[in-house]
Amino acid sequence: LGLLRRVETYVSEFLSQKSRTNGSFSNLSFSRSSSNCSIATDDGLFEAPEPLSSSKVMMEKVLWRRSMQLRDEQRSWQESRGGREMLEFRRSLPAYKEKDAVLSAISQNQVVIISGETGCGKTTQIPQFILETEIEAIRGAACNIICTQPRRISAMSVSERVAAERGEKLGESVGYKVRLEGVKGRDTHLLFCTTGILLRRLLVDRSLKGVSHVIVDEIHERGMNEDFLLIVLKDLLPRRPELKLILMSATLDAELFASYFGGSQIIHIPGFTYPVRTHFLEDILEMTGYRLTPYNQIDDYGQERMWKMSKQAPRKRKSQIASVVEDALKTADLKDYSLQTRESLSCWNPDSMGFNFIENLLCYICENEGPGAILVFMTGWDDISSLKDKLQAHPRLGDSTRVLLLACHGSMASSEQRLIFDEPEDGVRKIVLATNIAETSITINDVVFVLDCGKAKETSYDALNNTPCLLPSWISKVSSQQRRGRAGRVQPGECYHLYPRCVFDAFVEYQLPEILRTPLQSLCLQIKSLKLGSISEFLSRALQSPELLAVQNAIEYLKLIGALDENENLTVIGRYLTMLPVEPKLGKMLLIGAVLNCLDPVLTVVSGLSVRDPFLTPLDKKDLAEAAKSQFSRDYSDHLALIRAYEGWKNAERDYAGYDYCWKNFLSIQSMKAMDSLRKEFFSLLRDTGLVDANTTSNNEWSYDEHLIGAVICYGLYPGVCSIVNNGKSFSLKTMEDGQVLLYSNSVNSREAKIPFPWLIFNEKIKVNSVFLRDSTAVTDSALLLFGGSLSKGDSDGHLKMLGGYLEFFMKPAVADMYLCLRRELDDLIQDK
Ligand code: CDP
Ligand code: MG
Repeated sequence: LGLLRRVETYVSEFLSQKSRTNGSFSNLSFSRSSSNCSIATDDGLFEAPEPLSSSKVMMEKVLWRRSMQLRDEQRSWQESRGGREMLEFRRSLPAYKEKDAVLSAISQNQVVIISGETGCGKTTQIPQFILETEIEAIRGAACNIICTQPRRISAMSVSERVAAERGEKLGESVGYKVRLEGVKGRDTHLLFCTTGILLRRLLVDRSLKGVSHVIVDEIHERGMNEDFLLIVLKDLLPRRPELKLILMSATLDAELFASYFGGSQIIHIPGFTYPVRTHFLEDILEMTGYRLTPYNQIDDYGQERMWKMSKQAPRKRKSQIASVVEDALKTADLKDYSLQTRESLSCWNPDSMGFNFIENLLCYICENEGPGAILVFMTGWDDISSLKDKLQAHPRLGDSTRVLLLACHGSMASSEQRLIFDEPEDGVRKIVLATNIAETSITINDVVFVLDCGKAKETSYDALNNTPCLLPSWISKVSSQQRRGRAGRVQPGECYHLYPRCVFDAFVEYQLPEILRTPLQSLCLQIKSLKLGSISEFLSRALQSPELLAVQNAIEYLKLIGALDENENLTVIGRYLTMLPVEPKLGKMLLIGAVLNCLDPVLTVVSGLSVRDPFLTPLDKKDLAEAAKSQFSRDYSDHLALIRAYEGWKNAERDYAGYDYCWKNFLSIQSMKAMDSLRKEFFSLLRDTGLVDANTTSNNEWSYDEHLIGAVICYGLYPGVCSIVNNGKSFSLKTMEDGQVLLYSNSVNSREAKIPFPWLIFNEKIKVNSVFLRDSTAVTDSALLLFGGSLSKGDSDGHLKMLGGYLEFFMKPAVADMYLCLRRELDDLIQDK
């Protein structure tokens, strides 16, 4: 492989040099003297830049032959009937009309930015234009295009589509790679991958050797990984002058990126969508004659003023609605697009309109409008599943002979996701309930009607309290327009915004980039491991730099868990953590698990926490599901319940009963399988680090005891710790930063009346009105004392987050003193050793 890479680089250098002379290769022959090699082409003799060894000459011949072969294959597909039909379709896409402009911009500039409406053919066509042109120029074998996608599902579905457009199977010239899955062959020249995969490759291959083109797709989303990748690529470009970078965006904010790269060329692909009629809430109410929500159904909800009107005479209702809208106009200062304004709009909460409204509107569309799929944009997964349940129970919408009801969100399994692209049988109406994933990443072709609730769950980060939040918030104007655009793919469409026009007017133009609204710990570690210098200096070069406080918090955390030293350099632990593709806290668990020889159960915990929650809680069977989970609980620990559930599944699998086992116990079989492969992946990574003996296998019969696992969990998740206050019949939980906190109802500990332990270690806390803890394990004083991070330095330090602070805050002074003394002695002992 090493040789192959060297030769590939050599050949691509050679070819790019050749292409500069504009020669053609149709007449290529090699000749070799003892020390040198020359290549004859149509336009003369080309001296190789350095003496070629015979193996290099041979490789070059192989590559050239392969390039010829690729061209022949491409031509014969293009001349076949299937190929001609496909080409006809592709020619109809707006992107195809810009093909020449795009290609010439790419050949003349190192960085090109392409913007164009969703569905115009950016993702499927632009990488193909490059590939086809390279193949046609007999450079196919040397071309290596990487196109990044923010989500797994788009990498997978797009690569499949592009392979089909090229008349190939996946894994020939087109492949994909996402975490744990991928189809890629020896001759793959166009690879769709998630942004994370490319970042991991940069870890081992800083200059992206052999890559000819990097395409970063969907940059308008401004995900953290994409913003990070752009800083790295910006540094790399001067060192790799022949590397081409293409950025693609569904919105028109291209200037921002262009100026970031010092004025790169922008190409805009004029869009083509059929006209979409827009209805805001007031229009919907008027259009449907205010019939949508009978008053008696909505008395639970907050929007009474609006709905009471539905009982009154139409004319009067109309004027009253106008006055409600006017009120809102007054509430919202429309000149000010600040966040403040967005929050003041919460009086127009679409959630509080209830699902009845949406249900009735869907019925109205089914009864009064022509055919076409309906796409409903919902706030989040919980809304989708509750609405789906509700619709399934509806006499008309729940009738599967007339309605095909589907859900679409980022964490669903790939096989499920594919269903949404299928066209239903005649006479059946497809209704897709989706999160904002359907906004730009995936295109469902047959959508004619769009319902837009106007909100999306957005992660945000409260830097002051150092708490991540996941709250529904209003979308941006751009998102709202994107949602609308989804209706006009195949014919004129209709878009129903479930909020008044004045609310839309007060939306912010663009959403805040992710780097400004999430914790930065993993990012900081990545910066250190890529040796990119000082964290804050590096991040100051981002397109938009995060708040200083957020950066400091992240650095502080990494110091606290021992990943960075006082001078912000990676410690030994930190260096190991960067080798493991998990959050630092999970990485720490793996490391200590390996050191303490109890890796097997720890692998299960870490892989379980890295996949979608394996314990399912279907809304209509919530109680049964929670009871099933608590069967696995014996020691006040969700993590140990997970280990038992997994081990049970493994045993059942041996008897070919894994599926039944999952069904009975409300476990997700996909998550179980994903855990299985993650365990293997983590194990082999640990073996590579040398922490685990190369001869051991991951499934040996290490025995373990629950207290040890508790301690390991404590070591990883610290400072995620809260104190348990048992008072008679119940208990309450307190952290130092948040005061009282609550448990998610699917935690086994939430079903306990009492927890006979002093501390609860948790995986994650999230603020949704109150602060909730997810996945927790109860531990003893000694586990916290020995495994809960370092003591504060010096007695008077008083830094609350340090372990000493915890003990002092929650324990009786004399007890805390005793414990601190003990720990100090132990620390000294270890130092002496
Ligand atoms: O990236 P962009 O949103 O500009 O469009 P695209 O993903 O390249 O899709 C271009 C067109 O290809 C879509 O309008 C669909 O008609 C078609 N397509 C498809 O049929 N199946 C897919 N899986 C992806 C795209
Ligand atoms: Mg796209």
